[in-house]
Amino acid sequence: MNTKITDCIRCDFPLLIQTNEAYLDNAATSQKPYCVINAVEDFYKHSNANPLRGLYELSVNATDRYEDAREAVAKFIHAGESAEIIFTRNTTESLNLIAYSYGLSNLREGDEIVVSITEHHSNILPWQMVARSTGAKLSYLECEQDGRITDEAIEKTITEKTRLVAVGEVSNVTGRRNPVEKIIEKAHSVGAVTVVDGAQSTPHMAVDVQAMNTDFFAFSGHKLLGPMGIGVLYGRRELLEAMPPFLTGGEMIQTVSREGAVWAELPHKFEAGTVNAADAVGLHAAIDYITGLGFDAITEREDALTAYAMEGMKKIPHLHLIGSEDPAEHNGILNFVIDGVHPHDISAILDADGIDVRAGHHCAQPLLNHLGFRSTTRASLMFYNTEEEVRRLLGSLASVRSRMGYED
Ligand code: ALA
Repeated sequence: MNTKITDCIRCDFPLLIQTNEAYLDNAATSQKPYCVINAVEDFYKHSNANPLRGLYELSVNATDRYEDAREAVAKFIHAGESAEIIFTRNTTESLNLIAYSYGLSNLREGDEIVVSITEHHSNILPWQMVARSTGAKLSYLECEQDGRITDEAIEKTITEKTRLVAVGEVSNVTGRRNPVEKIIEKAHSVGAVTVVDGAQSTPHMAVDVQAMNTDFFAFSGHKLLGPMGIGVLYGRRELLEAMPPFLTGGEMIQTVSREGAVWAELPHKFEAGTVNAADAVGLHAAIDYITGLGFDAITEREDALTAYAMEGMKKIPHLHLIGSEDPAEHNGILNFVIDGVHPHDISAILDADGIDVRAGHHCAQPLLNHLGFRSTTRASLMFYNTEEEVRRLLGSLASVRSRMGYED
């Protein structure tokens, strides 16, 4: 495999150089490079004070590092301004913030919420809650057996009554990128707002929220080489300004009286309590690292590894891969079943061979049911994986049925 990124990249990741495991569960969480681990440690060693409160130098410095991270995120996803970036714990919290704050205040009986069937539970359950609480109707934008959402489905499902459309940019099951631009265009044509879950896209492709023209966009730091516990919500200023706070408490107010409060300006209105500054600083380091590599090089490497894996998987009898035939449409995600073997058994066999994958419903039960599966096994690749790791995966997979007692 001749790609700009080589196996030497693994030296940047302490866990990868210490282990013989083939870590192929990157869609669940990515490994962390030294620069991210060091940035978090450095914050606590040299800048630790409560940001946004103290007037002394240490606290001002902590605030600067936190706000620099916000600027870096804004630039990374091409937001118009950093005040449109809210730090949360993760994608789930970002999506819940939109549902509780925007959803409960703006939706009512007679309205429709459209959610793509390809969603992770975190982009379904908040909308089920909003539908239950407001009387709005929830409908699903269906996909084909290979995970594709067609123009016809978009036209048919998004109607004059639709007020909100929630869709993942990339499915954590098929790896396919949804036609978010088309969905957003249709949603806006009927006056609906759009929510895009970018948890699985941001590690693999450049995102431009203004070009995409979405109203909201959510993602997590930990899938993008950053720390766990830091996530992002992007929202258009007009919408965020009109929304009530999700959580109330310290530092999200201008004034508080016995009777009430005046909320702080964006973004602080949505960041109640002491913020997770150290992990925001870690996310900043992750963004710098990824930007330094460049998405062209990342995609080249991930597509080459995926193509190699898919070629090998096609030759394994009884293995069925879910999703597109085109490796470029997988974003590193290889989800499959093997006839007669439960995904948990597949995962246990791979684990015995030192290969880490995820098995189960992938927090996407409606999609799995729609595609006719109860559970599947998923290997998910990142640019730091190697051809040798893929070869090990293929070797183990080829042996699964015989190790389960089958003769063919
Ligand atoms: N959402 C993550 C996954 O798909 C945890 O595995």
